[in-house]
Amino acid sequence: MTKKLPLPLLVVVCLVSLIFINSSSANSVSSKAVTFSRDVAPIFFKNCAECHRPGEAAPMSLLSYKDARPWARSIKEKVVTKQMPPWHADPHYQEFANDRRLTQPQIDTITAWVDQGAKEGDPKDLPPAPKFVEGWAIGKPDIVLQMPEEFTLEASGPDEYQYFEIPTNFKEDVYVQMAEARPGNRKIVHHIIAFVQPPVKDGKGGKYANVTKADIEKFREEQEKKSIFRRDGFLMRMKPGMPVYDDGCALPNGGNGETLDVKAEQRNVDFLTGFAPGMNAGIMEPGTVKRIPAGSKILLQLHYSKASGKVEKDRSMIGLVVAKTPPDKNLYTRPIANTYFQIPPGAENHKVTSCWTTKEDIHLETLMPHMHLRGKAMRIEAFYPDAHSEVLLDVPNYSFSWQTVYYLKKPIALPKGTRIVVTGYFDNSAKNKYNPDPSQAVRFGEPTYDDMMIGWINYTVDKEHLRNETAVNSGRSLGQ
Ligand code: HEC
Repeated sequence: MTKKLPLPLLVVVCLVSLIFINSSSANSVSSKAVTFSRDVAPIFFKNCAECHRPGEAAPMSLLSYKDARPWARSIKEKVVTKQMPPWHADPHYQEFANDRRLTQPQIDTITAWVDQGAKEGDPKDLPPAPKFVEGWAIGKPDIVLQMPEEFTLEASGPDEYQYFEIPTNFKEDVYVQMAEARPGNRKIVHHIIAFVQPPVKDGKGGKYANVTKADIEKFREEQEKKSIFRRDGFLMRMKPGMPVYDDGCALPNGGNGETLDVKAEQRNVDFLTGFAPGMNAGIMEPGTVKRIPAGSKILLQLHYSKASGKVEKDRSMIGLVVAKTPPDKNLYTRPIANTYFQIPPGAENHKVTSCWTTKEDIHLETLMPHMHLRGKAMRIEAFYPDAHSEVLLDVPNYSFSWQTVYYLKKPIALPKGTRIVVTGYFDNSAKNKYNPDPSQAVRFGEPTYDDMMIGWINYTVDKEHLRNETAVNSGRSLGQ
C-alpha cells in the first residue's frame, strides 16, 4: 500500500482484510487467550489511530500497550456501546467508504481482551505500526499554505469568526486531489472552512483584480443592508422579525434564503475543505478534483472559541495534495439549507426541511449534515424524476461534536430534475443535555447558541470532462 491511497480507501482495504482474519477465529475468541500484540493492536492501528495518536483530537494514544492498557475498561464500554469509533449513519441506507464501525468479531476480540485482564502478549506479534505523516491525515502535502501572520486571540469575550486570506501565487491552475485544513492551535480553533477565491473581474473592461479584505468588508456591509442577517460582534445572526418558514421545501428557493455560502457562491467563491471535530480531510476520488485557478487566494474562515481563558495565538494552515492522474471532473459543493426556521422554546422534536432540485445530470459523492447544539436527527432523501425515492443518508442520533463527511462508496446518479429533500429534527427541550437555553426561540445563525440546518453535498457534473477541455496539470511542475 502506498501513502498515496486516499485514507478512507486504506481503511476499507484494511477492514476487509481484518474481517477475513477474524472470521476464521471468531468462534474461538472467548476461549482463546487474546493479547494486545497479536489480536488487539491490529484493530487499534486500523480503526482508532486515526484520532488516537499524539497530536490528534482524542484524549489518549492507542498506539502502544503502555498507552492503551490504563484505558482498557473504558475501551470495552465505548466499543460495546458503539460510541467508539464514532459513526452516526444508519447502516440500512447506502454504503460509505469511510464507515468506521467495527465488525462484531472485532468487538468480541476487544471484549475478550479486557475480560482476560488486558494482557500484552509477545511484542514480536505486533503488526507494523501504522505510518502517519506527523500532523496530516492526507499524507505529506505537496503544498502547504499557512496564514500569513499569527493571530492573537484575547482571553475573554464571545467566540470570534475571523477571515484570513492566503495568496497561492499559483501561476497556472492547480488540480487538488486532497485538501486538509489544519488548526495551528487546537485549544482555540473550533472550526476552519477554507474557500478558494479566484481572481475576480474588476468590472472595467474585464481585467482581473484581486479581492482584498477591505473589499470583503464592504461587500458584507452592502449585503447586510439587503440581508436577512445582521452582524452581532463577529457573528452573523438572523435580523429580528424575519418571516418564519420551517418547511423550506414549500418555498421556491427551497428554504435557502441566503447563507454565507450562497453569498460566497454569488461571489464565485468555492468551498475547498474544512476542519471540525470528527471531520474527515477533504479527499477526492482519483480523477475527481478541486480546481484552484491561477492567481486564486485561499480564504479561511476561523471559528475561535475562548474556552482556555488565556490569551492564545494561532497560525492555521491548509495542506494540498496535487492530482497525480489527469483530472476529469471538478467536485462541486452545495449547502442545501433552511435559513428561515424557528425552533420554539422547549420543542422536543421540531421538524425543518430544505430542498434543492438538480439542474443537470450529476453524481453525488459525499453528504454532511450540519446543525448546532439542538440538532437531533437528519435525513436526506432523493425524489427522482420517475417518482421513485431513496434515502441517501439517515443520521438518527446527530451530534454536534462529530462533523462527519459521509463518503459514498459508489457515487449515486441523480438525473436532472431530482429533488433532494433534507429533513432536520431539533430538540430545544431541557432533556437535551447540550441545550444552552431551552427557554429561547432559536433561529439560524453562526453562534453555536443559534442553530443551523444544512445538508452539505459534494457532486460531479456528468457532462463535464476536464480531460478534453483543459491542458492537464499533473503536478510535476510543482516539484513532484
Ligand atoms: C474520528 C476520531 C476517533 C476515532 C476513529 C476513534 N476515537 Fe475514541 N475518541 C475520540 C475523541 C475525540 C474522544 C474524546 C471525546 C469523546 O469521548 O467523545 C474519544 C474518546 C474515546 C474513549 C473515552 C476516553 C475517556 O476520556 O474516557 C475511548 C475509550 C475511546 N475513544 C476508544 C476508542 C477506540 C477503542 C477506537 C477504535 C476502535 C476509537 N476510540 C476510535 C476520537 C476517535
